[in-house]
Amino acid sequence: MKLKNCININDLREAAKTRAHKMVFDYIDGGADDEKTLARNSSAFDDYELLYRVLSGVNSPDLSTTLLGQKMDVPFILSPSAGNRLFHTEGEYGPAKAAEKIGTVYSLATLSSVSIEDIGTATNGPKWFQLYVWKDRGLVKEMLDRAKAAGFTAMFLTVDLPIAGNRERDLKNGFTIPPKIGPKQIWHALNAPHWTMDYLFSPAIRYANLSSASTAATLNDFVAAQLDAGFNWDDAEWLLGEWNGPTILKGVVRADDAIRAERVGFNAISISNHGGRQLDTSPAPISCLEPIREAVSDKTELIVDGGIRRGTDVLKAIAMGANAVSFARPYLYGLAAGGTEGAIKSVEIIRDAINRDMILLGAQKITDIDRSFIKSI
Ligand SMILES: Cc1cc2nc3c(=O)[nH]c(=O)nc-3n(C[C@H](O)[C@H](O)[C@H](O)COP(=O)(O)O)c2cc1C
Repeated sequence: MKLKNCININDLREAAKTRAHKMVFDYIDGGADDEKTLARNSSAFDDYELLYRVLSGVNSPDLSTTLLGQKMDVPFILSPSAGNRLFHTEGEYGPAKAAEKIGTVYSLATLSSVSIEDIGTATNGPKWFQLYVWKDRGLVKEMLDRAKAAGFTAMFLTVDLPIAGNRERDLKNGFTIPPKIGPKQIWHALNAPHWTMDYLFSPAIRYANLSSASTAATLNDFVAAQLDAGFNWDDAEWLLGEWNGPTILKGVVRADDAIRAERVGFNAISISNHGGRQLDTSPAPISCLEPIREAVSDKTELIVDGGIRRGTDVLKAIAMGANAVSFARPYLYGLAAGGTEGAIKSVEIIRDAINRDMILLGAQKITDIDRSFIKSI
């Protein structure tokens, strides 16, 4: 499948599969254990149907909204994702530019392959910074200071990765960052010539926010050595004091955790299971949304993240109480299929779908989309 022929996110997935090295595609596409949560993240949207309204007169809907005080032209932001230069040599520049072009927020991962400073200067669009908590707390503070200085305005604290999930595709492929080249990798490299040429003629891939050059490590080994699995609520409160700006707790599925997050001072909650890459059989975020919406106050904003591939998925999440949604694989498939152009195509596909689906639904504004549009199966 070629990029120019792609009309939906599944087509972009096929195009990514064609262009990218197998271990790279599987790293993007895969999940933990039996990938039950990965599958359920998308299929759970089928548990709800959209009860559209007729003769509403909507012909030019307004897709804009605000999240944490940030005005956005679309009701979605880009979820953080690590190591984008592995997928395409344009790396994190691709989705950052896609977000700027479509008028929304880009979130840069701690483990990005383009640095905080380089993304800071590459885009004038709104930028948020995703944090993992390092054993070395000096490094945590240093990263937050760098993010502030580079124009990142909100902190996304990801807490569903105390250790790396059991991603068996990566184990089978011998996946490491930076890539380690063995017979299996060479064989797959020959089947992905465009990816391979880019890889060979681009600067070495590394975690760009870390000063020491890292040697090839599996994600499990890297995370176990560097990140703090013992990080707890007291530490989260300490961290809130280190960041004077909006904060989002990412990776919540339980209402009691959401209540606690609100109490300690997070402004928003990302209802997420890390795209099915961590605890398999954890529930789909869309199914956790209503209990969390009921548990927290209206001032706590909710972002649903996981399995969003269609405009209708976005509308369902908003109707059930999300302030906005976010996604990673859709833009990563686009990036892997065709760099910045592919990343832009992915967000345009979802933006255009939301526009079409709001007309079909009979909703003029994002705030018009309420629970009355949902029929549970
Ligand atoms: C390849 C890949 C890398 C990711 N890296 C990170 C990361 O570094 N930090 C983080 O908080 N989430 C990371 N995520 C999770 C995403 O932010 C998001 O929660 C998840 O992918 C949403 O599901 P979706 O891909 O179905 O949209 C990653 C996801 C993918 C697919």
